[in-house]
Amino acid sequence: MSGFDYNIVLIGFMGTGKSTVSEYLSSRFAMRIVEMDQVIAKREKMSIPEIFAAHGEEYFRDLETGLLVEMQSRKNTVISCGGGAALREKNVVQMKKNGKVVLLTASPETVYERVKDCDGRPLLDGRKNVEGILELMEQRRDRYEAAADIVVNTDNKTVTQVCEELVKRLMEMEE
Ligand code: S3P
Repeated sequence: MSGFDYNIVLIGFMGTGKSTVSEYLSSRFAMRIVEMDQVIAKREKMSIPEIFAAHGEEYFRDLETGLLVEMQSRKNTVISCGGGAALREKNVVQMKKNGKVVLLTASPETVYERVKDCDGRPLLDGRKNVEGILELMEQRRDRYEAAADIVVNTDNKTVTQVCEELVKRLMEMEE
């Protein structure tokens, strides 16, 4: 297979594996990769926590929206969104213009294990525990699900298993 004539847009809560999955897809299918947080941090010359501290969340969210608009002219690109990008409806409209939206999910316990030793996620400040993660996840669940074309759970799966399932589901969508 030689890639996709659309973009694969990975959404989901922090720690659901978007970056890991995007790297795998990118090398397996020779897709370009856009890690939204990285692009934004590079352009702003600041880390994500610095952007939040200096300009606030709304400013960061506007940068996400602008970047998603730019992505419409791409194809065969895997776009790894920050965990909040799918919460704005206008962002989801942009994602769907030339992309299939894939929601990655994981239990709060799995997310906690994956994020517990990393800094750099301002929205987990003060809630980096299973209960805090569950609470924020529940607040977001409906919006994530409404945005998704397909949903892939990542609990207890290898990245290869997740990607095989994901690609199979995308193929089924096209049939
Ligand atoms: C956020 C998730 C982060 C980053 C920012 C906000 C969120 O990305 O965009 O800290 O609101 O869930 P990851 O999902 O890649 O950690």
